Amino acid sequence: MKIINVGNYQELSERAAKIVIETVQNKPNAVLGLATGSTPIGLYNELIDDHAKNGTSYRKICTFNLDEYVGLEGSHPQSYLYFMRQHLFNHIDISPENTFIPNGKAEDMMKECERYEELIKEKGGIDLQILGIGQNGHIGFNEPGTSFSSRTHIIQLTESTRKANSRFFSSMDEVPTHAVTVGIQTIMESRKILLLVSGQAKMEAFKRLLSDEIDESFPASVLKLHNDVTVITDIAFDN
Ligand code: PGA
Repeated sequence: MKIINVGNYQELSERAAKIVIETVQNKPNAVLGLATGSTPIGLYNELIDDHAKNGTSYRKICTFNLDEYVGLEGSHPQSYLYFMRQHLFNHIDISPENTFIPNGKAEDMMKECERYEELIKEKGGIDLQILGIGQNGHIGFNEPGTSFSSRTHIIQLTESTRKANSRFFSSMDEVPTHAVTVGIQTIMESRKILLLVSGQAKMEAFKRLLSDEIDESFPASVLKLHNDVTVITDIAFDN
């Protein structure tokens, strides 16, 4: 893993945007794996600014989001489809038909998982996967204990994840209990991975990531087995 330490969140967002923009410029039909959550919002803002100022085009870009809550319509303000439209898709020239997010309201969720895996393959696989990290080390919604060989699947959210995400809902009861997420194996098949780690709340997770541990009890530790991972962090930490 290549670790890039930056001074603050703005710098983290700019460094990350530079990597995404380079990918898009070098391969105008690249397949990007996208993440939701607070961490990538600054990156998306940078991409929007760059698109407006420099005209970087996403016309032929295809995107796959990591995950979606089970049971929420895409029109629900807390759905990840809504998030992506609001924070990125509505502000760049990407074609909506090239943006893929698992359907959390599919009638047959198992079939939906298979369909999503197939789609990723059909589009040639992920060139650049953006990741955040949960305080418990989850990547996507792959909670601790998820098999490293998992593919897109349904997962029961841990109480700590539901609690962390309850800040976006009016009450804890409204936070979905399940999500659909691409699997760890799916993530590991991405050609390049960009992990963003921001804020003191992630300090423990970051320390654990830097340790020698590679174990399913800490999902992000699998990234040490990938040959092209860049971590950008604004956490000051001496090894
Ligand atoms: P956050 O979420 O960016 O909102 O901290 C990251 C995650 O849970 O994967």
